[in-house]
Formats: sequence, structure tokens, C-alpha cells
Amino acid sequence: MHPLLSLSVFGLLLLPVALMLVEDSPLESVPHRSVPYQSNNTLLFREEGVFDYSTMLLREDLDLLVVGARGEVFALNLTDVTKKISSAKWEVSKQQVSECKRKGKNEETDCKNYIRVLHKREDGRMYVCGTNAFDPECHYMSFSDGKLTLQKKAEDGKGKCPFDPFQRHASIMIENDLYSATSMNFLGSEPVLMRSAPSSIRTEIKSSWLYDPNFVSMAWMPESKQSEDGDDDKVYLFFSETAVEYDCYRKLVVSRVARVCKGDLGGERTLQKRWTSFLKARLDCPIPGYRLPFIIQDSYRWCDSSRHWKDCIFYAVFTPQSEISDISAVCAYRMSDISKVFSEGKYKTPASVETSFIKWVIFSGEVPVPRPGACINNEARKMGINQTLQLPDRTLQFIRDKPLMDQAIEPIGGVPVLSRRGAKFTQIIVNQVQALDGEKYNVMFIGTDQGTLLKAFRYSDGEMIIIEEVQLFSSPQPVKILQFSNKTGQIYAGSDVGVVQLSPANCERSSTCKGCVSARDPYCGWDSNKGKCVSLSGSQSTLIQNMNGNSFDCKDEPAEPSPRTISLGEKVELNCPSLSNLAKLLWMKDDHELQYSPQNGPLILNGLANDAGLYRCFSVEKNKTGEHRTLVASYQVSIDSKRSDKTGVTSVPQPQSSSASHTGLICVIIFLACCILLLLTWMSCKSRLRLLWDGMKGKKDEQQQTPDQEAKQPSEPLVAKTLNNHNSAGGDSAETDAQTVHLSSMQFIDDESSV
Ligand SMILES: *[C@@H]1O[C@H](CO)[C@@H](O)[C@H](O)[C@H]1NC(C)=O
Ligand SMILES: *[C@@H]1O[C@H](CO)[C@@H](O)[C@H](O)[C@H]1NC(C)=O
Ligand SMILES: *[C@@H]1O[C@H](CO)[C@@H](O)[C@H](O)[C@H]1NC(C)=O
Ligand SMILES: *[C@@H]1O[C@H](CO)[C@@H](O)[C@H](O)[C@H]1NC(C)=O
Ligand SMILES: *[C@@H]1O[C@H](CO)[C@@H](O)[C@H](O)[C@H]1NC(C)=O
Repeated sequence: MHPLLSLSVFGLLLLPVALMLVEDSPLESVPHRSVPYQSNNTLLFREEGVFDYSTMLLREDLDLLVVGARGEVFALNLTDVTKKISSAKWEVSKQQVSECKRKGKNEETDCKNYIRVLHKREDGRMYVCGTNAFDPECHYMSFSDGKLTLQKKAEDGKGKCPFDPFQRHASIMIENDLYSATSMNFLGSEPVLMRSAPSSIRTEIKSSWLYDPNFVSMAWMPESKQSEDGDDDKVYLFFSETAVEYDCYRKLVVSRVARVCKGDLGGERTLQKRWTSFLKARLDCPIPGYRLPFIIQDSYRWCDSSRHWKDCIFYAVFTPQSEISDISAVCAYRMSDISKVFSEGKYKTPASVETSFIKWVIFSGEVPVPRPGACINNEARKMGINQTLQLPDRTLQFIRDKPLMDQAIEPIGGVPVLSRRGAKFTQIIVNQVQALDGEKYNVMFIGTDQGTLLKAFRYSDGEMIIIEEVQLFSSPQPVKILQFSNKTGQIYAGSDVGVVQLSPANCERSSTCKGCVSARDPYCGWDSNKGKCVSLSGSQSTLIQNMNGNSFDCKDEPAEPSPRTISLGEKVELNCPSLSNLAKLLWMKDDHELQYSPQNGPLILNGLANDAGLYRCFSVEKNKTGEHRTLVASYQVSIDSKRSDKTGVTSVPQPQSSSASHTGLICVIIFLACCILLLLTWMSCKSRLRLLWDGMKGKKDEQQQTPDQEAKQPSEPLVAKTLNNHNSAGGDSAETDAQTVHLSSMQFIDDESSV
């Protein structure tokens, strides 16, 4: 018994420590504010019977948001997506459906036309591709006189658009050239990264190039701009694939970034019509405590237009490779780090170990010149090589066999920017905003598979702050696409059920100065004149903002404690709105902490004579160095013993119902007391009778004590509760204490006797 006892005591001591660890772990990041679904959170566009709003094209030049859904393309008003301007249906014919069914596909899901590719061309027209019942096709589409029109002549969509609507793909259009990463065949087994005609070029069909890939996104980098070595522009592809380089007993998936040069024309004999510049590297996002690599799901290129392209940052979201874990993460990569690995890094090479086993090792031999995978640059031009067709075979053979770099690309700081348990991250966009302190913050907007949008940023001291998590759709639908327009300054999100539009700021969600400031939202500040939380960008007045979350500049609110007069025995609630999910409430009465006060929700007073006093409610939030308290509400409570319940007490929420229930409670107590009294009398009479008969005197005391205790029990919790609430001491309290001591000592004796 003793070791057990000490063990449990030890456990009890450890419990708070364990809880603290969990609380402090960055994986448990709690958003300051959770915003449930409300129709006024966003502007929503959806059309009855149309699903999968997963492709978007911003046409800021036309003030349009063009959205590709299943069987239809919509042109929506960019400033208000609820306004449909035009739409074009593109459905599959009956014959195509039966052909698709004949090949064993599902009529209701697979054999529809899912719009997957949507780009703007330089002539202002658009290029749109759909899965077209497992037979991908592309069309030109124009918008004129307020009408969206698909031009009749269809082009083959093989290699541009997936056959399978549930397979991931990526594409980008640069100077009318479509770069696409998808599967080229019906089975979805022939992955390809290609640039379409006229100078069509693609990847080799080799597992060392692409091995069961999941394409995620593509981005363009203007690397020829002010390039000292006459470099070319590049296209980057983010994806995940089965790793060739690990000799594991089971398939291991890794995240990758690959890139090709815009001017690549392929080789003359070796690598004819194949990329001569396809290089790839592993992309790491290490999460402490997890060994298996995390899998990339989306990436976003963020560039400061006033700075060099090497200062661009890629933000990417990752999810675990096993279903067991529910952690998602965001890692950020410097463009200069990515570029360096490709332009200076070592290569990996396959080497046969023993008989048939292939191991990928670092290549330590002599690297041919021009450097394999490099774009045509001044160095190559000096050698008389003006285009990739002129590259020597040695360089081409090298890159054909060794497209994988040895070095992996590490995130900025070596760790994720954000990691969190819960809904899986699916999409990300990043927007920079300058706060009043002059600091610029890169705010991330992260879509999840539960239809929520997280708004988060990293504070200068490294602290991760999740400002809010907003439910975008009425049902938990995965966010399939996110876009940001810097013309309207709005965010657009698409899911299976619709398109929503929202502002990145949403300051009006805070209704008090303290709530506004402690939210630590770099977009928002408190306008004291208007008494509103407003967006910095839309305001000319001086605003209150403190990125530390300290709201001591907010002087306007509860300056004067609001007076409350309550009658004896009247139950009232003192309200205290919570400023944040992260904050705990603390109540003080006349400079003493109320020990048993609620950590959220209102404080309930039961109208006792000693309830009078000054009540103050603080929102307590922990920061790195300690905690800060913010006064949220204060009340001066006085007790009016003369007034009855009915003479109108001001500003008490639901006085009628609470006093009614109070009266009800009293009735019940009186009734119970009567019952017990009756029972008691009956029992004591009965016992006396029995005593008379038995003539046994010793048992008398004990038997009388039992009903005594029973009689006290119903009223005891009530007394204890009111005492707890008010933290006052008195004769009653002493009595209860005595009783408790008595009971526990009895129990203790009982225990001893059983040993
Ligand atoms: C949205 O609607 C809810 C109730 O439906 C309301 O309480 C809230 O103030 C509204 N928010 C805005 C920003 O209008
Ligand atoms: C979009 O809506 C705004 C106002 O909601 C209007 O001023 C504008 O003209 C509309 N744009 C188009 C292209 O219809
Ligand atoms: C490459 O281009 C330079 C000038 O741009 C020209 O002088 C040279 O002849 C070209 N070389 C080849 C092999 O085409
Ligand atoms: C949008 O951003 C680009 C660069 O990212 C910038 O050149 C352009 O001026 C911005 N447009 C507006 C309307 O702010
Ligand atoms: C934490 O709160 C204290 C008290 O308000 C404040 O002085 C300190 O600057 C805060 N620290 C950080 C890192 O925000």
C-alpha cells in the first residue's frame, strides 16, 4: 500500500508538469480566436448542381475571377464573387460517357468533365483543359461583351491535363507556352513534366526522373533578369514521389523540387525532345520527433517586387506520410538556397552494390563541362554553345542518368515556421503587411481539409501566432484552392461546394479595444474616435496597435465600474467577454482574487449580503516572459435588502427566468426538507420502538447519527457552493469544515481497520 501511495502522490505531482509540457508545445498552437461558420463571414458563390470549384484564374485586367468547376466555367465579379457575370457550360456527350463507362470508370464521378487547367494567354484569351470523361481536351476561351465563350476547336489534352480527376497535377503558362506536370495515359502510370508545342519537350520515362509522383504546384522565376552570367529563366515544380535513393524494405515517399530552363530545346541525339536541364532535389521539412519525411501538399511563391528574385521565399505545407499522425507543418525556403543546390551542389549517382542491388551514392568523379543541367549561360556561349541542341553528349548522358542532387534543401532556420495538430493543411498563400511599428509581417493563410482558414504569422521573437481560424464553408469541405488578388486585396477560396471571398483583415470581429489589440493582428488597429477595430489600410486616423499584445493603451473601456444593485437572494450573472481562446479569466473582488471563479463565462452571484463590493475581471494571457493581465470588465455591486425581485433591476440578463428558477429551487428545497423531516421523525420513532423492545442502549447513538447526517446532506452542497463562490468565512463555514474533518477521519479509521 505504501509504495502505491507514494507512486500516486508522485503521479499527482507530475501531472501539472505534464500538462504544462503539452501546453507549451508548439504543436498545440491554439488560435486566438475560433470563428464558427456564419454566412456573413464570407461572400459565397455556388450554383445548384455544380461541384468542384477547384480551378481559379485571376483576371485583374478584366476585374474577373474565372472559376473552373465540374462541367462549367464561371466568370465572377472580382470585387464581389456573388455576382456571376457569365458562364460557359462544358459537359461530356452521352457517347463519351458510355465510352468512359465501357472502360470501367464510374459514371457519376469519373465520367464528367472536371476543369483542371485555366490560364491567361498573351492575346487576352484563356486556355482551358478538362478531364472530359477520362479523355482530356483543351479549348481556347474568350471573354468579350460580358460573355464567356468556349471556342469550338478542341485540342488534345494528353500530358496537359490529367485523365483522372482525382489525380494531382500542376501547370503554368509562360509566354503562351503551357508547362504541365501530369500523367499522360489512361492508367495514370506515365508521369510527365512537359512543355507543349510548338517546341514540345518532356521528361524521360525513367524512375530516376519521376517515380510515382504526386504533382503539387509550379512557379516561374525570372532568373535571366540582371543576371551576371547570362542565365535563363526557370520553371520550378514541387511534388512528392517514391524515393529511389533510400534502400528501404518499403516504399518511402519524399518531397521534391525540380526545375527546368525556359530556353531548353532538348538534345540533338541524346535526350532528343527531352529536357536537358531537369534537375531535382529533396525538400526537407523536419519536424522534431518524427523520422519519416513529411509530404508536400502545396507551395506559394512569395516575392518582394522591389528586391532581387533570390530573396523570394517559397512557403510550403506538409502533412505526414503515415495516417497515424495528425500534424501539419509549414516550411519556408529561401530561393537563394534552392538555386545554390542546383547550381553548385553535388550529384547523386546510382551504383551497383554486389549483384543487382542499386544504391544511390554521392558522385565524386569529374563533372563534365558545361555543367550538366545548367541553362545555357555565358560560360557555355564562350564555348560556342548557344542552345541546348549543341550540348556535348558527355553532359547530356550525365544528366540523363543523374538528375538527382545529393544535397537536400533545408527550410529557413532548419525548422518549420508553423506546425500544428488537427485538421490537415491543404493550401497556403502569404500576404505581407506592414504594422504600425514599421515592421513587415508575412501573414500566412492556410486552408485545411476541414474547410477552415488559419491566419498566422511569426513574431519577431520567433513566437508563432495564430490570429484566427475561420470556418469558411457550412460543412467541413477541404479547401482545394486559395488565391489572393492584390488589386482587390481579397482572398478567394474554392472547395467542392462553392467559392468564397473574404478580406484578410476582418478587424470588425473584435468589438472592444482590448480585444482588437490583444488579437495581435498586424492588419488591425483600434480607432478611438470611431470606437471600432479597423483595418490599417483603410484608415487615416491614429490607431492603437501593439504587436506584443499589450493593450495598456486602451483606456476607453471599463473606466468606471458599472453599478449593479441586486436584491437579497437574487441570482445575477456578471458578464466578462473572453478576449481570446488563449486567455483565462481571473476575477477579483476588492483586490482579492476569487479562488473558485469561472475561467470563462459569467460570474454568478447568489445575492448574499456579503456579495457587495467591487468586482473586476481580467483576461490573463501568457507570453514568453510571463503573463499579462488585461482588465476586461468591472462592476460595483451593492445589495439592496429592501427591494424585492420585481422592482426592476437594471441590466441583469434574464432576470425573470433566473428569479423564477430561483424560487423554484427554494420550493424544491423546502419540499425535500419536509420529506426528510418526516422520514427522520418516522425513523426515530421506529428506532425508539425497537429500542424499547430490544432494550439495547448502546446502539442508540450510532443510529441517531446516521439519519442526522442524511438530513444534512441535501443542504450541504448548496452551502459549500455559495461559500466557495464568495470566499467568505463565517460560523457556517467552520461548521462545514468540522463536518468534513469528521467525515474524513472516520474514513481513515475505517481504512485502518480494514488493514
Ligand atoms: C454576423 O452575424 C452575426 C449573427 O448572425 C452577428 O452577431 C455578427 O455581428 C455579424 N458579423 C458581422 C461582421 O456583421
Ligand atoms: C463588380 O461589382 C462592383 C460593385 O459591387 C461594380 O462596381 C463593378 O462594376 C462590377 N464589375 C463588373 C465587371 O461587373
Ligand atoms: C552563337 O552566337 C554568337 C553570337 O550570339 C555567334 O557569334 C556564334 O556564331 C553562335 N555560335 C553557334 C555555334 O551558333
Ligand atoms: C501586385 O503585386 C505586384 C508584385 O507582386 C506589384 O507589381 C503590383 O503593383 C501589385 N498591384 C497592386 C494593385 O498593388
Ligand atoms: C509579456 O508581458 C509583459 C507584461 O505585460 C510585458 O512587459 C512583456 O513585454 C511581454 N513580453 C513579450 C515577449 O511580449
